[in-house]
Amino acid sequence: MPIKMKKIGVFTSGGDAPGMNAAIRAVVRTCAYSNIECYGIYEGYKGLIEGNVIELKSRDVSNIIQRGGTILKSARCKEFHEKEGREKAYQTIKKIGLDGIVAIGGDGTFTGASIFNKEFDVPFVGLPGTIDNDLYGTDNTIGYDTALNTVIEAVDKIRDTASSHNRLFMVEVMGKDAGFIALRSGIGVGAEAILIPETPTYINELIRKLESDRHGRKSSMIVIVAEGESTGGAFEIARQVKEKCPNYDSRVTVLGHIQRGGSPSAMDRVLASRLGNAAVNALIEGKTNVMIGVVNKNIAFTPFEKAIKHNQKINMDLLTLAEILSC
Ligand code: F6P
Repeated sequence: MPIKMKKIGVFTSGGDAPGMNAAIRAVVRTCAYSNIECYGIYEGYKGLIEGNVIELKSRDVSNIIQRGGTILKSARCKEFHEKEGREKAYQTIKKIGLDGIVAIGGDGTFTGASIFNKEFDVPFVGLPGTIDNDLYGTDNTIGYDTALNTVIEAVDKIRDTASSHNRLFMVEVMGKDAGFIALRSGIGVGAEAILIPETPTYINELIRKLESDRHGRKSSMIVIVAEGESTGGAFEIARQVKEKCPNYDSRVTVLGHIQRGGSPSAMDRVLASRLGNAAVNALIEGKTNVMIGVVNKNIAFTPFEKAIKHNQKINMDLLTLAEILSC
């Protein structure tokens, strides 16, 4: 049932992701178009608890669509895990008179929103903003495409030097719980092996593959390692490989937080713009407790509880594809 929305709040929470600003802009401008006041909440749940909120008008979000990071800043907030913290957040919402909230973030953000929804009667919708792409109910999360392009650009450069020196490189990418970045970027760079948290790593198998590549006269070898892979990450794998194959000339590169920064790709800007607009419309239509995504090109709504909890599964066919194409 449609709800009269007079004031909507928006925040970004958890690890930042390229495209968050484009999403904020879309929320603010859709509010302006619909004659709704829009309020930006700084640092996610922390700002909600502390009342760190400002009104945002159309011109306040000029020239941010192309910027990485988030103008509203982001945080991981322990206080919101406690009932007392959530009570304070509710008081801020009541004080300003917010009729609905748009939360842009990932797994932790929606876990918090889902608990809050059970305790307080405030409509909450979520936008998937994380480079990890580990949310069910959207083909891509905001920031994933940009992060993939960042990884690919970096690893292409590593490939140049790896080839010149006939070296083996272990490249660690983000993804403490999920291997989506590793899998797609691994295919994109033509990696010799891809190691992800969803499947156990067998060092002997990896060495067999590397040996076969070496004998097949490959001039360089790249192993993409998701940080949450079962052995403990790129340095540990490199150590174990070196122990068994001391002749390998190997190096480790950890790409780290460069994956979270940078100007969002075209794909991320368009995705974020569509989702920001859909979030405001969803609140007007009376929706709550849902994450909004794009599935098969269409806007889709998924309850928070379903969007989180590792429901998004890795496509194992892609792992097989990577193996076939790296022979
Ligand atoms: O945004 C998600 C994520 O990038 C994970 O892949 C990574 O493990 C984590 O954030 C790092 O977070 P922080 O910046 O808090 O160390």
